[in-house]
Amino acid sequence: MHRAKTGFLNKDGIRIHPPEDFAGMRASGRLAAECLDMIAGHVKPGVTTGELDGRIQAFIEDAGAVSATIGYRGYQHASCISINHVVCHGIPGSKVLKDGDILNIDVTCILDGWFGDNSRMYVAGKLSRRDERLINVTHDALMLGIAAVKPGNSFGDIGAAIQRHAESHRMSVVRDFCGHGLGQVFHAAPNVLHYGQPGSGPKLEAGMFFTIEPMINLGRPGTKVLSDGWTAVTKDRKNTAQFEHSVGVTAEGCEIFTLSPAGKFHPTWAT
Ligand code: MF3
Ligand code: CO
Ligand code: CO
Repeated sequence: MHRAKTGFLNKDGIRIHPPEDFAGMRASGRLAAECLDMIAGHVKPGVTTGELDGRIQAFIEDAGAVSATIGYRGYQHASCISINHVVCHGIPGSKVLKDGDILNIDVTCILDGWFGDNSRMYVAGKLSRRDERLINVTHDALMLGIAAVKPGNSFGDIGAAIQRHAESHRMSVVRDFCGHGLGQVFHAAPNVLHYGQPGSGPKLEAGMFFTIEPMINLGRPGTKVLSDGWTAVTKDRKNTAQFEHSVGVTAEGCEIFTLSPAGKFHPTWAT
């Protein structure tokens, strides 16, 4: 069903949604987060990434929603599954998880026309101390970025908070991918950078919907895309982690649409 887009574009070309649009984002974000909760119990050594993707697709379709990634620019899967040194856009398939692999699973669904986009880190088997630290720093960086979301602050305050945290732990922020506006579309203005200067960039206003999805590397920030045209890896092949939430700016601060209803946001949580 086609519906006219709601709200209006502000002077920076960023859509400002009316308060009634939050309900749609809340529902799609919740479903996207429930999907990541669901998959947690299936991540273990011996499982293929294609099998995980199949469960994700079935979960979304059983809920009466649609995968936003199937058919997106020729992509054919309901998730991106990015293992160890894969930064993002890993393609699910015959790859078998082995003990100690860390992986990001990124799921975007469309429910009643609204996009819910989120990702989390998981571990197959035993999590090493080094990777646990990487994952903790990355999750904390995302939540510090979210803490900077309130009217009057700027997008640069979000990036600065993330960058400061990652670099204070001698990790680096990937520059080649960013968060994005979303709502009744998958990717819209602005580009949400995960680094930058406090006070720079467009001002945050109530009614903006966007993702924050920092990718943090143990080594250098450089990435490259493999010949499949999707898989992005760290150039130095050191491990990387990412978490993503979809958020909406409110008068007081922000609402996180994709919080885990089960509290399973971290790989060391009981599944
Ligand atoms: N979900 C990703 C994001 O956070 C986009 C994936 S596009 C795909 O923006 F085609 F690779 F699936
Ligand atoms: Co996203
Ligand atoms: Co995503």
